[in-house]
Amino acid sequence: MADPTISQPAQAAAQQRVHPRGHLLQRLVRYTALVLLALLILVAISVLIAWLVIRPKRLVFTVEDGSVHSFNLTHDQYLSATFDFSIISYNPNRRVSFYYDSIEVWASYDDHDIAFSVVNSFFQPRRNWTRLDVKLAAQNVSLSRSTSRELRLDKSGGQVELTILLDTRVRFKVGSWKSRDRILRIWCSPVFDLVHLSSSNNFHMKYCDVEL
Ligand SMILES: *[C@@H]1O[C@H](CO)[C@@H](O)[C@H](O)[C@H]1NC(C)=O
Ligand SMILES: *[C@@H]1O[C@H](CO)[C@@H](O)[C@H](O)[C@H]1NC(C)=O
Ligand SMILES: *[C@@H]1O[C@H](CO)[C@@H](O)[C@H](O)[C@H]1NC(C)=O
Repeated sequence: MADPTISQPAQAAAQQRVHPRGHLLQRLVRYTALVLLALLILVAISVLIAWLVIRPKRLVFTVEDGSVHSFNLTHDQYLSATFDFSIISYNPNRRVSFYYDSIEVWASYDDHDIAFSVVNSFFQPRRNWTRLDVKLAAQNVSLSRSTSRELRLDKSGGQVELTILLDTRVRFKVGSWKSRDRILRIWCSPVFDLVHLSSSNNFHMKYCDVEL
């Protein structure tokens, strides 16, 4: 029940004093939400435009050629061999070029590292392919009994599958903007033909897995 000591107009004025403040808060929240939404949409549109303009594409690595020389697995399980292979690094991007740091190359058989090499750093322009010739020498590498047995079996079967791991860092460049270093890992599993030792006629091109 209304307090008879307060007149009707005074009550209405008190209510008006509360209401505008409530309205203001509501409007502020609504404006803030609208501004945030607009910003979000702007960011999304810029990302979409940047994506459409740059059209980033995955780097492509293939093993084109490979051969084995001086393969020798002794009876006391020491392996010596030279593996030559050429990898094509292809940058399909029309607007992105890459700076490759020096690349560490590992060859492993049955999860056992047998040879290591390094490829020099290089710059890869847009839509460029670059051939990397890698020579990996396994020099008197001690193998476990089971690995050595498996390798002997593979060899008598005529084919040995090695895993080649390339490990490096890249920076990419779009226009004059350069990214920070990112780790790039490439796995290839070329199959070397041991029947036709040192002949690469029967080598089949192989795509590698690329993780950036
Ligand atoms: C393989 O290596 C062993 C030990 O070095 C050597 O005695 C042997 O002659 C080598 N075999 C071939 C085919 O080169
Ligand atoms: C790829 O780029 C390198 C470095 O700029 C260059 O030497 C090479 O000729 C280019 N390859 C092709 C196929 O354009
Ligand atoms: C390979 O290494 C083992 C052990 O270190 C050694 O006994 C053997 O003589 C080495 N063989 C060659 C060909 O260097």
